[in-house]
Formats: sequence, C-alpha cells, structure tokens
Amino acid sequence: MQYGYFDDLNREYVITRPDTPAPWANYLGSPAYGAILSNNAGGYSFVKSGANGRILRYRFNADDKPGRYVYLRDRSSGDYWSVSWQPVAKPLSQFHSECRHGTGYSVISSEYSGIRAEVLYYVPLGQTYEVWKVCVENKSGEKRDLSAVGFAELTNANNYEQDGVNLQYSQFISRTYIKHGQMILQTINENCMLSENCGLKDESNGLQRFFALAGAPVTSYCGDRDVFLGAYHSYSNPEAIERGSCGNEDCYNGNPCGALQTDFTLAPGESCEFCFLLGAHTEEEAKKILDAYTSEPSRPNREVDELKRFWGEKLSGLMVHTPDKKFDSMVNIWNAYQCFITFTWSRAASFIYCGLRDGFGYRDEVQDLEGIIHLDPEMALGKLRMMISGQVSNGAGLPLIPYDYRPGHVKLPGDPGYNYDSYRGDDALWLFPAVWKYICETGKTEFLDEIIPFADKGEATVYEHLKRAISFSQTHSGSHGLPAGLYADWNDCLRLGEQGESVFIAFQLYLAMDILKKIAVMRHDKETEEQMTSDAAKLKKSIFENCWQGDRFIRGIRADGVKVGSAGDPEADFWLNPQSWAVISGCADSEQGKTVLENVENRLLTEYGAALFEPPYREHGFDGARMLLFNASTKENAGIFSQTQGWLILAEALLGRGDAAYRCYRACNPAEMNEKAEIRRIEPYVHGQSTEGIHSPHFGRAHVHWLTGTASTVMVGCVEGILGLRPTPDGIVISPSVPSDWKEFTMRKVFRGKVLNITVRNPDGAQGGKTEIVLNGTNLHSDFISADLLQSENEVVVTMVK
Ligand code: GLC
Repeated sequence: MQYGYFDDLNREYVITRPDTPAPWANYLGSPAYGAILSNNAGGYSFVKSGANGRILRYRFNADDKPGRYVYLRDRSSGDYWSVSWQPVAKPLSQFHSECRHGTGYSVISSEYSGIRAEVLYYVPLGQTYEVWKVCVENKSGEKRDLSAVGFAELTNANNYEQDGVNLQYSQFISRTYIKHGQMILQTINENCMLSENCGLKDESNGLQRFFALAGAPVTSYCGDRDVFLGAYHSYSNPEAIERGSCGNEDCYNGNPCGALQTDFTLAPGESCEFCFLLGAHTEEEAKKILDAYTSEPSRPNREVDELKRFWGEKLSGLMVHTPDKKFDSMVNIWNAYQCFITFTWSRAASFIYCGLRDGFGYRDEVQDLEGIIHLDPEMALGKLRMMISGQVSNGAGLPLIPYDYRPGHVKLPGDPGYNYDSYRGDDALWLFPAVWKYICETGKTEFLDEIIPFADKGEATVYEHLKRAISFSQTHSGSHGLPAGLYADWNDCLRLGEQGESVFIAFQLYLAMDILKKIAVMRHDKETEEQMTSDAAKLKKSIFENCWQGDRFIRGIRADGVKVGSAGDPEADFWLNPQSWAVISGCADSEQGKTVLENVENRLLTEYGAALFEPPYREHGFDGARMLLFNASTKENAGIFSQTQGWLILAEALLGRGDAAYRCYRACNPAEMNEKAEIRRIEPYVHGQSTEGIHSPHFGRAHVHWLTGTASTVMVGCVEGILGLRPTPDGIVISPSVPSDWKEFTMRKVFRGKVLNITVRNPDGAQGGKTEIVLNGTNLHSDFISADLLQSENEVVVTMVK
C-alpha cells in the first residue's frame, strides 16, 4: 500500500494518507534544541538531551501521543477536529490531510468541513525554540466562526525518568502562569530562583519554559493538562475543546501544559495566520521571542527559506541523475539527510531511543561520520577529532564516550561506574577508513600530524594514534594470531572474549594495515611500511590457513578452538560479514571474492536484503552467541541487519559486479518499499536498523527508524561503490559499478571546492571495472583525475569500458 510520494524538487516526502503503519517522523532543530515530529504531530522536544532536557512528553511504544496539537472548532456547530488527523481522528472519508516532511521542517495540512488548515513546524536556524505557524482558510461558501487551540504537554522535570516515574516528587515542583495575556510560563522548582535560596540552584531546577501565541489574541488559556483534557477524556476529545473554552486555569502541581485559544471569524475565501511558540526560556527571553513574531508576521517564511537554503547547500555536494529515480531520491536527499541526522543525534532521540543512553558509542559515531565526509568533511572533522581523543593510550577505543567527555577525565573499562567492563575488539579500527576518507576528500594530509590527546593520558599525532590501534589488535590476539573478539566485535551479540578470535576484525585489521602502509609510503616512513607489509602478509596467511573453506570465510574461532560459521555447522554455518569484508579489505582476490559473494546471493539474499547468517540460532548456541536471545530471523539472530547491506553493496561494486551491487541495493532501498509500506511499516524514506527475515511471520517488517549506522554504510556503498567516486590523497578515481542497462547518467560532485560535472557513458553495457576519463576535453586514458588538473568548473566524461 502507498501512503505518500517523494517530491524531490522540494526535497520533501509527502504523506497523503495519515493512517501510516507506524508514525513517520522528521527531525527539527540542532543539538541545542531538538524536536522529533510524526506525520500526526506526535513527538517531543528537548534541550541538548532527549533524556535530560526533555520539554515535551511523549509516551513511547504506544499510540504516537501526545504531540504538538492544533485543534480547530466551529463555534456555531460545536464540531471540532485537529489539523493533524490525530488526535481527533475525523473519518478519513471527510478529512483530507497531507504531511510534507522537509529538511528541518514539516508541514501538516488538512481540509475538513470547508476549512483548510496548515501548520508549519520548524526550529529556526541557530535558535533554541520552535515555531508552529498556523494558517486557516475558509474554503466554504459561508462565514465561519472558528476557534483554534494550540496544545503542548509539558514535562514536569527535564529528566525523562523523573518526569515519568518519580511522580511523588515531580508532580509537586512545577506551576504555570499566564503572562502578557499571550503566554503560558511554566516554572520548575521556582523557589530555587529566589536570591535567598540560590545556593540550591542547579541545572535541574529553577527552570522556565514558555508556550506563546503571536499574531492573534488569546481568548482563553489553560496551564493544567488534567483540566484541559478533563477526567476520562483524552487528547481526542478534551473537555476544553468540547466546551469551547480552555477555562483560564493555571497549573499548581499535577501535570502542566500549554493550551492557548484564539477565536476568529473568516468570510468565505478569507484566511488568517498566527504562530505558536515553544521553548525553554525565561519570561524575559520568551517575551522578546514573542514580540519578534508579533511584529514581523512574515518572519516564519524568511526563516523557513533560510532552513531550505541551509540544507540545500549541505546536500548539494553530490547530486546524481540516474535512470533510477528512487536511487536518486535517496542519494541526493533522504539518505544524505539521514546521515546528517545520525551524525547529529547519534542514538539519542527517536521514537525508539528515548535518550537514556549516557554517551556516544565509539563505533557508531566513527561510522556515522563516514556518511557525511563526501558532503561536509569539515563538519565530520570535529567529531573525528573527538573520537580520536576517545582512544585510550593502549590503542583501544573507549566503548562509550560520555556526552560531557573530556580527555583525561574519564573512567576506563573495568573502572567502577563505567558501563563496560572490557574493550571491544573493533572500536578503534573504524578510525582507519574514517581518517583515510577525510584525508582523501580534502587532500589535507597534514591532519596526520595533528596532536590529539588520548582518553587516559598523554597525546600523540593522528598517525601515532592509528599505529596504536593496530598494535592493540596485535597485542590482543588469540592462538592463531588473529585479533581477539573481546566484549564484542561489530556484532554486539557475539562475545568471543580474550582468546576467541574474530574474522571480521581480522579483515578490519587487514584493511587498517593497508591504509597505514599507504600513509607510511606517503610519509617516506620505510620502517612502518615494511612492518605493515610483513604484518599484513602474516595476517593473511593465518586467515587463509584457518578461516578459508573454499566457498566461505568462517566468522570466528572460539576460545575452545571451535570454529563459528563453518561448513557443516547445524546452525549459523554461513555468515555475511566475513564474505563482504574479505572483499572490502582487499584480502580476498577477485575469484575468491566472486565465489563468496555468489554464495551470499544464493544463501542469504532475500527480496528485502541479505540475512546476517543462516540458519538462525535456535538449538546450537554457545555462551558467546547472545543473539540467541532474539527470535529467529530477527536483529542479530539472522535478521536482515540493514547496516551490513551497505558493505555488501560496496563489496559487489568493488568487484565490478554492477548488476549484483544494484540488486542488493534495491533489496534494501527504503524507497523501493514505498508502494509496499504496509509490509515494511517504518518510513519509506529512511533506513532502519534491521528487517525481519524469512523465518519470521513478518518477513520484510523493518525496525528502529532513523538512528542507525545503516545510513552511512549504504551511503558509502552507493557513493564509493555503485557511483565509484573514490577520492585519493592526490585526486579522485571515478569507476562506477552500475547495472549493465544504465547506459548513461550524470553526477555533480563538489570536490575540494571544485565542481565536477560528470557524465558517465556505458555504451557496451559494462557493469564496472575499467573506465576512461576525458577531463575538459583531454583524454586522460585512465580512471583517475589528478587534483592539480582541476579547474573551478570541470566537464568530465567517463566511459565505462567492457
Ligand atoms: C547496533 C549498534 C551497533 C552494532 C550493531 C550490531 O546497530 O548500534 O554498534 O554494531 O547493532 O550489533
């Protein structure tokens, strides 16, 4: 079933029927003030942290309520509805609605009983409050007396748990006031603000929030949620709305809210506009914000234009135009936007993550930043520096970097109070592709000499940080000389321990050695170059002696010597990641690569992507196989783990198997499910964390929207793999791996400030491999463009050669 469509011209996804199988969300704002909003206006807002700066309530795992509601009421008939379909939920035969999710804003509109109404939700660039701009138009043939009520359910405490669970405390600390006739002001532990008591003031108390109406007079208000809703009523039929007046009550204990009513009359064809404003600001600051919107009614238009421009520029670094519109929508807009969202919010705020995780996961962050390097390398750099400073001097990455992280002031694994008691085998190795991509995209090899502290003590150049990461893996290895899996390798559920060895990490390490070797060559560091050459050869030898079975690479070797993912195992005998990573790392030659990827296609690939392994664990688990806790074909227990699809696409593309790469891409492309949204359930414009596989009764159902490493791995699979845009320290290789029936496509890529207008021609139906580039009329007889040949604008014709 289809619930909406992609409007690429406006960079919007348009939801045309509101009864979507799950709340389909968008993100507004920045880390300073963030908001998540569904197509039915459900969602919440927060200052800095979803868990510790929560302003609006949201009940997780329920019915997508409450939200940022605007109720409308016909004062003559008493009939009422909401601009978003929910919460009043008028019959869809009479209620027409549309939600446009854009970049940093959303517009929800409806038409019901001759009244067209629209709410534009956004957080102005660089600001820490949100705007709901309302427009109501009378499309009926008669004069209409109407009321509009904005409603926001405020938390009692910034801390999500305090607000939701510690009710014997939190219900008695907040109250509201009506101010300036146009604003509800909420205070929290207000006595702490008094000068005599200010010694008691801390970050959690003495707070103020506001909900205001600009551009129209307030005719009634309510600060108390329970009064607004009324006993045994709900968001769908608040007593205040039924009655036609909010009752003018403040909140003193209990549950606060902001509810502001305005009454107006519209002649046929007439419309009116006003704005609700919400944020965590003092009365004085709030008054200034209110005045700004009162005195300049067109301000929202200007601010939304600014937002569109901001995102337009951010996303414009790569624009492709291929025969596949769905591919284009994702690469140009939605996958790219999702990469920025995961980069910004990590795993901290969605309808699944309520924000309580108290830090950045090492591998998640480093992977996320890979997804934006091709568009905004300097933005990625800030986080890259932070993550490098999260490396301990022994070379390992800290599993969790606290939000208030300061190098040298952090607990380490094993220290009391630190969430993890041991390191994970893979964390610091993610730095290699990330640092390498940054250097290649920007050409700034001097970054390798930048001095960055370690998490515990001391500091070193980036180059030295990288060396230590390799040495950590080498000093934490098992009896076959392969890196230990430790607490987990990429797979959080695979606990191979201090002696068990991980083939995934072995390939990561192989890639890391290759990158370090390239860097050593650039720096004329012969010793490291030779060391890496011989270490990589040794590692490869062990991998082939112990892990290669002719048709597959095994997944690991347990501490007791038993192989995991071995031919003949009754369960989990064939795993995806060691096959894709054998290719990505360059360890497997192209024949071996082809063999294992064909095996993947036969054993694991389904119409919704490739399973993590087959068959799922049910009866033959072991202590380190914690995925057994999940139902079969779900998440790490042989689910279609979405993040791994990007690696599969990349591996297929690196082998020049364009048809296969594209098949894998289409299987996991959310946009491909646009017409089958009832199967996938989550948004067709964002990747999720995993999809249920063939052993599930809900094959194809996807989970954990938005905040997932999938955004970056699939982006990299598309950009470096399918599109073949592979920067090097000296220039850029363009070597696409596309389906053989793509005869021509174009790309506009900004590379180091220069524009490349690329036309790729594929007259003979090649799938990848060799290309020949003509740059500004000159045939380079190669797939490589040296950066020093580039002008500010360049015409690049790439011919794929069979
Ligand atoms: C989740 C985690 C990620 C992990 C993956 C596989 O996506 O965020 O860190 O690698 O699961 O277990």
